[in-house]
Amino acid sequence: MQKTFYIETIGCQMNKLDSELVVGELQNLGYQQVATTDDASVIIYNTCSVRQHAEDKVLTKISQLKKRYQTSRDFVLAVIGCMAQRLGQVLLDDYPQVTIVTSPSRIYELASKIDHAWHERSGSPEKKKLDCRSVASNQDADHAGLERLDSYRERPEVDHPFMAFVRIMRGCNNFCSYCIVPHVRGRESSRHPDSVYDEVSKLVDNGVKEITLLGQAVNKYDFQDSSGRYLMSDLLYKLHDINGLERLRFVTSYPGNFDKQCIEAMAELEKVCPYLHMPAQSGSDAMLKRMNRHYTIAQYMDIIEMAREKVADISFAGDFICGFSGETDQDHQMTLELIKKVRYKNCFAFKYSVRPGTKAADAFPDDVPEDVKQARLAELLDLQRKISHEDNAKLAGSTMKVLVEGRSKSPHLAGGIAGMNDSSLPQLIGRTGGDHIVVFNGDDSLAGKIVEVQILDASSLTLFGKII
Ligand code: 5AD
Ligand code: SF4
Repeated sequence: MQKTFYIETIGCQMNKLDSELVVGELQNLGYQQVATTDDASVIIYNTCSVRQHAEDKVLTKISQLKKRYQTSRDFVLAVIGCMAQRLGQVLLDDYPQVTIVTSPSRIYELASKIDHAWHERSGSPEKKKLDCRSVASNQDADHAGLERLDSYRERPEVDHPFMAFVRIMRGCNNFCSYCIVPHVRGRESSRHPDSVYDEVSKLVDNGVKEITLLGQAVNKYDFQDSSGRYLMSDLLYKLHDINGLERLRFVTSYPGNFDKQCIEAMAELEKVCPYLHMPAQSGSDAMLKRMNRHYTIAQYMDIIEMAREKVADISFAGDFICGFSGETDQDHQMTLELIKKVRYKNCFAFKYSVRPGTKAADAFPDDVPEDVKQARLAELLDLQRKISHEDNAKLAGSTMKVLVEGRSKSPHLAGGIAGMNDSSLPQLIGRTGGDHIVVFNGDDSLAGKIVEVQILDASSLTLFGKII
């Protein structure tokens, strides 16, 4: 039996980064990544608990492996991520095919646990189950283990050799009433700025041009020890000095208690991209209060206006929840008004999904009917699509700096559009500092370089142009 693994990642960028780190560790242990579960002796699902739908998807996938377990028992199945922490006991008790559950805070143990289970996988009628979920008493060991895992990586995944995620914080203390994250990812803790600096430097030495700093409420980064205190803006200044680093981003920002120094740093530091992903969740103060978000729409707009004034060509992204408990038509209209005011580049929007264990699940009824949630979501996305299209169209004629990622995987506009470069060249894809996706014809050798592209046309999701 070959040492092969299949990994599938659901959910946020944190999960994507965790998966990438696990892939690296498994490869070092001699495992080869394969594209289907059928070919794999180790199967890993990195899961998300933010909405019920995400959990249901994984439960279906796990169920589909039952037959293979009953007939051959020739694989190790590990469920990791937020769902492993939230539903680990159920997974271990009710699903014999699940061998390992590992929560996000113990992900550093996964590769060695998998290897152990792999060596034991055949022959034994009752598989030994490995339960690696976080326990409060283990925090120091977990931090040390996670630090080792984060710092271990030499280069990012093969698909995007020029861009890498770097975690700067773990956990969340905000306890928004609808959200499961603080319950499964634990309390906020900020990594040492020197560790972050070393990790970014190493990645840049190995060819990375763009770093995205990650945290659930990333702008709340706050590290203190005897040498002093570092906030998000301090970290941006520190990392900005790294030679060879071309772009720095950070996601996702929390609007409560927003440290305005961060905007000053964005305005001043040319490598920091003019892009702010700052979820509002709702445009109604009454909803924000019920969501336990600790800011008002007026305060949110202050941040947006300051950022727009100080940071040239800044673009915004937002998250919204439709049909949260008690949301009236009027609340929903206020959300639409906010979207019109901010004119986001793009929005991520979701129907409210009750998460057992959260404050909202206990205290507030899920009282907006499904069809109303659906209609509000569709209306919101429709409005956003219109705004994106209008604002993208206004960019036609301008020249933008684009970091070339490589060939576009699904070629847009088969014949190209009038004025695009030589269509015998491959169609490349890249991003602007403001996170606009740009498609143009160019040579493969441009991958990893920043080029100037004149924008010719636009859809709501993509800009089309030619290299100048
Ligand atoms: N239901 C729907 N959406 C949610 N989000 C978080 N919790 C829930 C929930 N219970 C959304 C928020 C957050 C994004 C990552 O997921 O908009 O910003
Ligand atoms: Fe969840 Fe709120 Fe923390 Fe975001 S800030 S992870 S929505 S609790």
